Amino acid sequence: MSAFHSLATRALRLSDPEDAHRLTLLGLQAGLGPRVAADDPALAIDLAGLALPNPVGLAAGFDKNAEAPAAMLAAGFGFVECGTVTPLAQRGNPRPRLFRLSQDRAVINRMGFNNVGLKSFAKRLAGRGPGIVGANIGANKESADRIGDYVTGLTRLWGLADYFTVNVSSPNTPGLRALQTGEALQELLGRVAEARGTLGGITPVFLKVAPDLEDAEIEAIADAVASVGFEGIIVGNTTLSRPSALASRWRGETGGLSGAPLMALSTRVLGQFHQAARGRFALIGVGGIASGADAYAKIRAGARAVQLYSALVFAGPDLMINIRQDMAARLKADGFASLAEAVGVQ
Ligand SMILES: Cc1cc2nc3c(=O)[nH]c(=O)nc-3n(C[C@H](O)[C@H](O)[C@H](O)COP(=O)(O)O)c2cc1C
Repeated sequence: MSAFHSLATRALRLSDPEDAHRLTLLGLQAGLGPRVAADDPALAIDLAGLALPNPVGLAAGFDKNAEAPAAMLAAGFGFVECGTVTPLAQRGNPRPRLFRLSQDRAVINRMGFNNVGLKSFAKRLAGRGPGIVGANIGANKESADRIGDYVTGLTRLWGLADYFTVNVSSPNTPGLRALQTGEALQELLGRVAEARGTLGGITPVFLKVAPDLEDAEIEAIADAVASVGFEGIIVGNTTLSRPSALASRWRGETGGLSGAPLMALSTRVLGQFHQAARGRFALIGVGGIASGADAYAKIRAGARAVQLYSALVFAGPDLMINIRQDMAARLKADGFASLAEAVGVQ
């Protein structure tokens, strides 16, 4: 057992999950993380011009302040998304705000974009090593111009991140999800696209959406993203819904639900976005992935890449070795020479 794994296991026994997370990040920064073997070449894929060594990324929220991207890449992730970062540092909601639903292999969080702000985040990103690292940008809770906050994030971090994610899907900043629909969405996408046009270069931009969307909203979002030329949609964030099968005592807590109970819902919505995309942009599937079978199901539903977070809370970063091996074996068993061949094949 690696030093990291025993550290993580001990950390997970702490009663407070946020303290456990802090300890895990400290261990990663200290170089105690696992290092895994090279990827199977069949897992490599091009995501909007990004050459991913494997399609399994670390989802946003684990490394909100860009403290440990190198350690997570070394642990086997094909790419790492840091953030959500907001222009100004923010404390987030009062603790407790992170709940482990162990019986359900799930998490509920209402963190509320706690982060160090763009200045410190930019400094850390500037000092990072090789590997694909994205920046997930958001708006401050008290901002008078929330759309302006996304433009500020993009502009300040331009040249420092390999891709950007415009996150309009956190349920924990009141009113944020309203940016996913109607005129607010058009204005957001228009202003971010305009800013990108003035910055030069070809850094991809993705929109991260909630899984809690109506059919008509899915069509409208897909058309809006295609019309401004964003490179993809990340489907998706945590859900406000509460499947009736949840058994843990924390199931009634306010916040977004993630982990195993989110797998079916988020994969269904991913499939709907795949239909609506009609090949105009890429999809990244997130929600409930805890195994190679889960990750592979998202690829077959239309994702070119996937991300996970909650499974780490229960399995530890060793999970990545199994997921990658299992995905490669499934590709071969189904007769695909490369991952790209399997995308969207039902
Ligand atoms: C504690 C916690 C914090 C999160 N913070 C963010 C965040 O800051 N920005 C974001 O876009 N998503 C955030 N997420 C959502 C994840 O990136 C992911 O979309 C969601 O958890 C579903 O994936 P999973 O089931 O593999 O965890 C957070 C999730 C958790 C559990």
